[in-house]
Amino acid sequence: VPLQAYNTFRIVAKAHALARIASEADLQALLADPTWGPAPKFVLGGGSNIVLTGDVKPLVLKVEVPGRRLVAETDKHYVVEAGAGEAWHDFVTWTLDQGYPGLENMALIPGTVGAAPVQNVGAYGVELQDRFESLDAIDLQTGQVFTLNAAQCAFGYRDSVFKHGGPLPTAGGQSLGLKDRALILRVRFALPKVWKPVLGYADLERKMADSGIQQPTARQIYNWVCEVRRAKLPDPAVIGNAGSFFKNPTVSVEQCADIIARDPKVVHYRMDDGSVKLAAGWLIDSCGWKGKSVGQAGVYERQALVLVNRGAGVDGNGATGGEVMTLAKAIQTSVYERFGIRLEPEPVVV
Ligand code: EPU
Repeated sequence: VPLQAYNTFRIVAKAHALARIASEADLQALLADPTWGPAPKFVLGGGSNIVLTGDVKPLVLKVEVPGRRLVAETDKHYVVEAGAGEAWHDFVTWTLDQGYPGLENMALIPGTVGAAPVQNVGAYGVELQDRFESLDAIDLQTGQVFTLNAAQCAFGYRDSVFKHGGPLPTAGGQSLGLKDRALILRVRFALPKVWKPVLGYADLERKMADSGIQQPTARQIYNWVCEVRRAKLPDPAVIGNAGSFFKNPTVSVEQCADIIARDPKVVHYRMDDGSVKLAAGWLIDSCGWKGKSVGQAGVYERQALVLVNRGAGVDGNGATGGEVMTLAKAIQTSVYERFGIRLEPEPVVV
């Protein structure tokens, strides 16, 4: 099964087998099958956060669980649920149309609702974990459905229990990561009845100043976020990419002071815990990588943190996963040599 259409990097690769999962029953039936039940499995959502470096041997489970609805109302929140297969951006748009604001800062993030908790998506000052209520997932070994709250998901910066295979680093080895062990079926969000805008982010402050609007609505923020993203980030429908390719690294105040001494312009943000987050895009940019390429894999001209596939989506003509990883390694080396910082890839390398 060709996977080019199923990954936003538009990398050419094949799955040995692929099954579409539109419901819990679909998966139960598959797990009961003597051939497919015991087979190793790989869960695929919108394919917007993966780099395929070869053919995928495990059975690919393409999650297509539909549905979006209001499931509960508390004093403070609307609890809204979406099937894992829903497109994230369409779901965000739907919540606003229904009068449940709160997800607007995360508009236009590619991918599906089910993939969003895996990397704890976030943008412009709001992360999924800030609006998360719970999720239902299914154990790929036993077929049992279970529910996780936010603490059980172990959310971190672009991280969760679903990104780890072995024992969780944070849980003292007591709890196991769920990577390739579970499939997310539905996700629930708690959206505040008393809505407050989240505007601290520089790009949004600029939009506010330029427009003269002082009390934007959620819809206004949604529009601003869409405009900022369209201006900075490549549309995966046009240029293959997986969003930010590296995480923004965190350093100590001392390390940051060292870097500032060498490079006073380094973009950095103080975190609540006293550490300092550096803009990886700036580090890469200042090493001169913007616009550079390895084969058909390139560094996006308008955002050095995003690697792109320069092959125009024509079969066999685009970047290979190997080219993407070679480029990524070269970037890591040059950032390490100049700043002493190891950049960590953000997408899942398959
Ligand atoms: N910068 C440069 N040169 C570049 C790119 C960035 O100097 O080539 C500077 C910018 O001028 C800015 C700073 O670096 O001062 C940060 O850049 P930006 O505001 O574009 O955000 P980012 O840190 O690059 C992060 C997320 C994005 C998210 C935006 C907005 C990560 C890894 N990335 O990017 O998330 O949309 O903030 O909140 O945290 C993603 O995860 O795939 C993603 C796109």
